[in-house]
Amino acid sequence: MRKLILTYIKFWWKSKNQYSVHSPFVYNLISKCFYDKTNYSAYKQIKIYKKALLTNKNTIEVTDLGAGSQILKSNTRVISHIAKIAGTTANRAKLLFRLTLYFQFNAILELGTSLGIATHAISLGNPEANITTIEGCPNISEFTQETFK
Ligand SMILES: C[S@@+](CC[C@H](N)C(=O)[O-])C[C@H]1O[C@@H](n2cnc3c(N)ncnc32)[C@H](O)[C@@H]1O
Repeated sequence: MRKLILTYIKFWWKSKNQYSVHSPFVYNLISKCFYDKTNYSAYKQIKIYKKALLTNKNTIEVTDLGAGSQILKSNTRVISHIAKIAGTTANRAKLLFRLTLYFQFNAILELGTSLGIATHAISLGNPEANITTIEGCPNISEFTQETFK
């Protein structure tokens, strides 16, 4: 335990803030993307997209892949519950938007579309990007394809 605390203090002492980062690539990424405080108009669209899902009380039959949900037990799920429990958070969606805006990726592969919160945020970052997103549950995939339209 003592060693762990000492390691943490050393890490904290050395890490400080973005000004102690020497690589220009990492410095620019942190200061111009991670810490970018601009209130982008896309943030409003990200909020609207998620809000529409959070108010959608329709149900959907889901195929659980992998470990499945530890919270949602039934396979018949309400869209709003999926959005609330498994959906990308607003802050993460905003970060994905900024990352796409900053790097201007041309080709993007996303694994696990779900309701498309992250996909939507990514597409706002670079509307010209070729985004491939993979969802294993056929019903969720169908629902989200309709939502994208
Ligand atoms: C946590 S959710 C992803 C959240 C989503 N990216 C968002 O923005 O809200 C994970 C999704 O990955 C899908 N998934 C999990 N394992 C998969 C697999 N092996 N193949 C395809 N899709 C999978 C699930 O069906 C689920 O919809």
